[in-house]
Amino acid sequence: MPITISNSISNENVDNYLDIWKKLWSVRDTAWHLENRHPVLVKYDHLLTNNENNSNKKRFLFPLCGKNVDMKWYWETGHKVIGVECADEAIDDFFSVNKISHKSYLSSELEKCKIFETNDKNLKILQTNFLTLDSPQLKHTIDAVWDRGSFGTITYEEQVLYANTMRHLLAPDFHYLLLVLEFDDNLFKGPPFSISEERVNHLYGSFCNIDKLESTVPQHVQLYQNHMKQSIQVQETVYLLTKKQ
Ligand SMILES: C[S@@+](CC[C@H](N)C(=O)[O-])C[C@H]1O[C@@H](n2cnc3c(N)ncnc32)[C@H](O)[C@@H]1O
Repeated sequence: MPITISNSISNENVDNYLDIWKKLWSVRDTAWHLENRHPVLVKYDHLLTNNENNSNKKRFLFPLCGKNVDMKWYWETGHKVIGVECADEAIDDFFSVNKISHKSYLSSELEKCKIFETNDKNLKILQTNFLTLDSPQLKHTIDAVWDRGSFGTITYEEQVLYANTMRHLLAPDFHYLLLVLEFDDNLFKGPPFSISEERVNHLYGSFCNIDKLESTVPQHVQLYQNHMKQSIQVQETVYLLTKKQ
């Protein structure tokens, strides 16, 4: 069935979508958060770090990063890491829980963007709306992306803007792991949303090669079922996106 996308977001209301997330963070209702490294990222790490790119130190993007612990791991292993997140609490928690000293300042390049940065400048979290992130400095600089709980947790209208931001950030030889959930969306309407392969193709197919790596029920499935308040089957489906040849 063809997908129709109504893009009803305007520049005036695009920040309204952040309110729901900020409310969740204000009461630390962050059921999606994993305390340990995501097993899928551990399994496929080599696709992001040991690919044919000549440098083995990459510039990683964690879109809609929350307080994701994998950011710390990549930073500690010598990569550059950029997270993008809207909520104060997520960023505060990330630095305080991990005991990472940092400074913060307003971006001189971007409006409505505060930057939180480690002392070595190799890990930065940009506090801004990813959907409207338009940074000449970051354009086509991202080598590797870990996208979990990000593309799949926003509405269809937001996904259109999200994919457009992504297209401008990716370096020519990028490697992008996209993890989405699949479940019967008659049983749970979202967020998170059930994302079909057709939708991934629709939004990424014009600029990415898309390889489906696996679709499995994860060990932490209960985390999703608790949020959905029912024991439905939830699969994590993982794609490797690379430059369209
Ligand atoms: C479901 S959580 C996932 C966080 C992280 N990816 C993880 O796996 O732990 C989504 C996060 O995106 C943030 N967020 C949602 N929409 C955003 C946007 N348009 N720009 C920046 N951050 C956003 C929320 O505050 C929240 O922390």
